[in-house]
Formats: sequence, C-alpha cells, structure tokens
Amino acid sequence: MIRRLSLLLMAMAFVLPQIAISSQKAVFESAKVCGECHGDIYNNWKKSLHALSYTNPIFTNAYRKAYTDTAGKAKEYCLNCHAPTVVVTGDYGANLPITAEGVTCDFCHTITKIHLNGGNSTFVNKPGKTKISVLKNADSKHHKTKYSADFASSKLCAGCHDFKNRHNVHVGVTYSEWKKSSFAKEGKHCQSCHMPEVSGKTANEGGRNKIHDHSLSHNVESMKDAVTVRTLKTTNDGKRLKTKIKITNAKAGHSIPTGTPARLLILEVRTIDEKGNTIEKKKRTYSKVIVTKDNREVREDGEVFLYGRRIAADNRLQAGESRIENFLFTSNLGKVKKIIAKTYFMYRPLVTTEVEMKISISETEQKVDKTPLR
Ligand code: HEC
Ligand code: HEC
Ligand code: HEC
Ligand code: HEC
Ligand code: HEC
Repeated sequence: MIRRLSLLLMAMAFVLPQIAISSQKAVFESAKVCGECHGDIYNNWKKSLHALSYTNPIFTNAYRKAYTDTAGKAKEYCLNCHAPTVVVTGDYGANLPITAEGVTCDFCHTITKIHLNGGNSTFVNKPGKTKISVLKNADSKHHKTKYSADFASSKLCAGCHDFKNRHNVHVGVTYSEWKKSSFAKEGKHCQSCHMPEVSGKTANEGGRNKIHDHSLSHNVESMKDAVTVRTLKTTNDGKRLKTKIKITNAKAGHSIPTGTPARLLILEVRTIDEKGNTIEKKKRTYSKVIVTKDNREVREDGEVFLYGRRIAADNRLQAGESRIENFLFTSNLGKVKKIIAKTYFMYRPLVTTEVEMKISISETEQKVDKTPLR
C-alpha cells in the first residue's frame, strides 16, 4: 500500500491546463447576483451541465475516486475545468460557495484572453466590474460591458473542451475534431449549434428580445437525428441473410461520440418475425479505446484522466462521415419479416456501481420481403 502510494506520488507530474492567475485579486460574483437582472439566461444556465459541473453525482463520484487515488493531488487538475473559478481564487479545498457553481457566469464573462495550446490551453480572467460578450452598445447599471469576438468563437470553448490527461494523452479532443471539420472552414462555431438564438430577454429591464441558449440543451432541433441510419440492401438466400447499413454522422461538428471516452455509440441491427419479436441481434460499437500501461482498457472518466497511457483504437464517426457496415444473420431465416436498425449512446460513468445509460438517437426499418431475395 505504502509502496503503491509512493509510486503514485512519483508519477505525479500533473499537467496543469489552466493556471493563469490574474494580477487583480477581485472575486467572482455569484450567478444568483447576475440572475436578478438576467432572469431568462440564469434559468437557462441553471439546468445546464455547466451549472452542475462540480455538483453532479457523476462528477463527484469520479472526483472522489481520483482524489483518493492521488492522495488529493487530483484537485489541482479536475477543478481547473469543473470549478474553474479556483484558478483565480485558489480555493482548491472548495470552501467558497462560488466554487460549487462550477462553470459559472462570471467565470466565462470575465475571460479576457485564451491561449490555445493543443490540449493544454489556458484562460486569463479579470474578474471585476467589466462583463464581456457579443452585445454591442450594451448598457448596465451594475457593470461595464465590453464586446469581444472571442465569445462567438470556438476558442472560448476550446480551453476546456480539448484536453490531455496527466500522461499527455489527448483524451478529449472535441475542439481539435471541430478544427479539422468542414464546419470550421465555414465558420460554424460550437455556439452556432450548442447556443442557438432563442426567445428571451437579455436583461429583465431594458434588454433585447433574443438570447443565446445557455442550457446546452439536447432537445434543440439541430440535435435530432445527429446520427442517421439507412438500410441499403438486404439479401436472404435461406442460409445467410446479409444486410448493408449506412451510418452517418449527419449533424455534429465533431466526431460522434465526442468528449469523454466513457461514451459509446452503438449501432444495433435486429431481425424481426411476424409478431414483432426479435430473432437475432447484432451490434457494432464506435468508441475511442484508451488503455493503461499494461494494456488494460479504461472507460470510467476518472481513470481515463489518471491512468490512460495510449489510444489503442478509435473508430468513431468523424464530422460528416458515412460508413457502410455489413451484417450477417443465420438464425431462423424463414421467419424473418423485417430488419430494424437503430443507434443509441451508451454511457458508462462510475456512479456507485457501474451503470449503463442508453439514449436513443435514430431508428430505421426495412421489410425483408420487399428487398431482392436471392
Ligand atoms: C442590475 C442589473 C444587472 C446585474 C445584477 C447584472 N447585469 Fe449584466 N447586464 C445588465 C443589462 C441591463 C445589460 C444590457 C443588456 C442589453 O443591452 O441587451 C447587461 C449586459 C451584460 C452582458 C453583455 C455584455 C456585452 O457587451 O456583450 C454580459 C456578458 C453581462 N451583462 C453579464 C453579467 C454577469 C456575468 C452578471 C453577474 C456577475 C451580471 N451581468 C449582472 C444588467 C445587469
Ligand atoms: C471553464 C471550462 C469550460 C468552458 C469554458 C466551456 N465548457 Fe462546456 N463543459 C465543461 C465541463 C466541465 C462540462 C461537463 C460538466 C459535467 O457533466 O460534469 C461541460 C459540458 C458541456 C456540454 C454538455 C456535454 C454533455 O455531456 O451533455 C456541452 C454541449 C458544452 N459543455 C459546450 C460548451 C460550449 C459550446 C462552450 C463554449 C461556448 C463551452 N462548453 C465552454 C467545461 C467548460
Ligand atoms: C454543426 C453543429 C455542431 C457544432 C459546430 C458543434 N457541435 Fe457539439 N454536438 C452537436 C451534435 C448534433 C451533438 C450530438 C447530440 C448530443 O450528443 O446531444 C453534439 C455533441 C456534443 C457534446 C457531447 C454531448 C453528449 O451528450 O454526448 C459536446 C461536449 C459537444 N458537442 C461540444 C462541442 C464543442 C466544444 C464544439 C466546438 C468545438 C461543438 N460541440 C461543435 C453539434 C455540433
Ligand atoms: C461557458 C461560458 C458561459 C457561461 C457559463 C455563461 N455564459 Fe453567457 N454567454 C457565453 C457566450 C459564448 C455568449 C455569446 C454566444 C454567441 O454569441 O453565440 C454569451 C452571451 C451572454 C449574454 C449576451 C446576450 C446573449 O444571450 O447573447 C449575456 C447577457 C450573458 N451571456 C449572461 C450570462 C449569465 C447571466 C450567465 C449565468 C447565469 C452566463 N451568461 C453564463 C458564455 C457563457
Ligand atoms: C481540461 C478540462 C478538464 C479537466 C482537467 C477535467 N475535465 Fe472532466 N470533463 C471536461 C469536459 C469538457 C467534460 C464534458 C464533455 C466531454 O465529455 O468532453 C467533462 C466530463 C467529465 C465527466 C462526465 C460528467 C457527466 O456528467 O457526464 C466526469 C465524470 C469527469 N469529467 C470527471 C473528471 C475528473 C475526475 C477529472 C480529474 C481527474 C476531470 N474530469 C478533469 C473537462 C475537464
């Protein structure tokens, strides 16, 4: 035990992605203060994963494990993104209420510079009287305002949504994936899809009538059918049923799945009988496989950060990519009436026991008797 601990401590060369302490010692204001005037945006943000980035149980469980495994060292790493105000306040013990607000209003709206550095990017913040974003000629009694084009750019998100773990493995690469996609060339930034304009008041009094959605909602129009599946051709000679499926990353500006390697995309194809029962089921998984130094696969978020040494495989669908997948079925072919293909996300976080969550994305079916039978 002691030996294991000291080995860990020796291996503790943490990369600190966002240490850039501003000379100004001003403190951040609570989201509740902003909410008094920015009611619509506050209510929006409140339900986002940004607001829950420090308090949601999926994070706290992974964090607790990382913290224990590193004798507390992990705090200087995890909190830089999940409770980013600590970079300025130094509150790594999480005693200040603002720390629990996670990715909070005043953290983002006081960013004055972003230094992009391939997965180890840093922010410079100047908390205080000036709040920065995309409005021109904004006027507020509470604070000064400033326009910055960075707020309409993917750069702002890159500081957290592109990261290397402590062994310098590029485990989360959403920004880099976006950067090489056609969306980057067209100037379609993260915000165009994840913070679309919706109705609402920029401020309760004197505000404009459109706001940018701060909820990171998964239900907005652009998120529907992010992955499409289509059956191209099915043949059944009585011994072998072969089907060709086309799967496309149709809507995302980066690979699907993106972000943490704990997310998997599953394509599931089933043969169905007259009564609608499944006869045979086949699956294909799209994911990024990260392994430890003894080639054990790590899936759980905390472990990916701490012990991931190498990307062993990556078959995720890149932005805009289509792939043709062949499936072969052999059971009870005489009874097959149709084929159903569907996709869903699986997510394997460490809660208290490992649970798997399924999120359906799209589904297609094809009647087998209408397709060329040979
Ligand atoms: C007393 C009311 C009040 C409070 C409190 C307040 N604001 Fe504002 N804020 C406004 C008004 C009014 C505007 C102008 C809106 C417009 O022009 O559409 C504004 C504008 C802004 C802008 C736009 C700046 C620009 O130029 O793009 C940002 C960002 C902002 N506020 C952030 C915040 C944050 C963060 C907080 C909390 C720390 C906060 N505000 C607290 C009233 C307030
Ligand atoms: C200071 C760090 C930080 C910045 C800046 C940031 N994010 Fe995040 N973001 C996070 C963290 C941490 C989470 C995960 C929260 C959790 O689930 O615990 C997250 C979650 C998300 C999610 C939800 C992911 C999911 O699993 O559903 C989306 C979408 C997202 N961010 C988009 C953006 C966009 C767009 C921007 C730029 C405008 C941005 N973020 C800027 C840290 C950041
Ligand atoms: C062209 C639109 C588009 C652009 C541009 C885009 N995204 Fe996405 N993003 C999507 C779609 C669609 C999904 C998948 C649907 C979902 O997971 O809810 C997604 C998923 C995500 C997720 C994972 C959410 C989850 O639940 O799996 C994160 C995190 C994310 N995007 C962050 C970003 C960041 C950061 C950028 C910019 C570097 C960006 N996105 C650019 C459309 C886009
Ligand atoms: C992850 C960083 C982030 C957080 C957290 C965040 N904002 Fe924003 N905010 C942005 C970005 C980026 C824009 C501009 C979006 C665009 O141009 O597409 C914006 C725009 C705004 C604007 C200008 C009006 C509008 O909707 O465009 C106001 C006001 C504002 N935010 C207030 C707030 C308040 C209040 C909170 C907390 C309740 C908050 N923001 C939390 C990044 C953030
Ligand atoms: C450089 C920024 C960064 C660092 C450092 C970081 N994270 Fe994250 N983390 C994110 C972002 C961004 C997301 C959400 C989107 C994604 O999957 O990329 C996330 C997602 C997660 C999730 C999934 C949460 C959910 O609700 O789905 C867990 C758990 C997590 N991180 C734990 C940790 C732990 C534990 C550490 C420290 C060992 C850590 N993170 C360090 C940026 C970071």
